[in-house]
Amino acid sequence: MLNAAHQLTLEQVTDANRDAVLALQLAPGQQRFVSTVADSLDEAAANPQGNPWFRAACVAGVPVGFVMLSWDVQPQPPDINGPWFLWKLLVDHRHQGKGYGREVIRQVVELVRANGGTELLTSHVPGDDGPAGFYARLGFVPTGEVDPDGEVLLRLRLVP
Ligand SMILES: CC(C)(COP(=O)(O)OP(=O)(O)OC[C@H]1O[C@@H](n2cnc3c(N)ncnc32)[C@H](O)[C@@H]1OP(=O)(O)O)[C@@H](O)C(=O)NCCC(=O)NCCS
Repeated sequence: MLNAAHQLTLEQVTDANRDAVLALQLAPGQQRFVSTVADSLDEAAANPQGNPWFRAACVAGVPVGFVMLSWDVQPQPPDINGPWFLWKLLVDHRHQGKGYGREVIRQVVELVRANGGTELLTSHVPGDDGPAGFYARLGFVPTGEVDPDGEVLLRLRLVP
């Protein structure tokens, strides 16, 4: 059966939706796995060398999540991973478990592939109740590397 995930779209953050995107919230205990949208936007502004690209994930025009990538960047490990790096991902706690996270990744993968990417990298803070299982479910595999902040690096190979 189709659920609302098939209606999800990735939208630019504009004056019209910014407040709703900034209001996205995680469940207690999840804050240690990803920064707030406000902090992510500050991070994007402070790190232009990471070529940040970000979108609000919306369902029926309502923001339910946020995603940020390093978009086709020149890798400079360990600070800049790429060329395609999933930098931030969050789904509001009221909308988790509905397939939205999976759909965001599916659409991001389509975009990356359409722009010539052959793999999507990401990293996560290790820990119970973290996103490791989510990423594993979607096919991400640990590269074996850990970044200077202790985050585990993952790779999703993009088959043509
Ligand atoms: C991780 C996160 C993005 C997942 O989004 P979501 O919309 O709840 O995930 P989905 O509903 O699309 O789940 C897709 C699949 O992953 C599974 N899954 C989701 N979260 C999981 C978790 N924490 N551990 C194990 N499996 C998980 C689901 O059960 C589902 O499996 P299925 O294919 O059998 O149905 C969301 O929980 C979140 O924002 N967490 C807090 C922030 C965070 O950790 N972000 C990642 C930073 S690196």
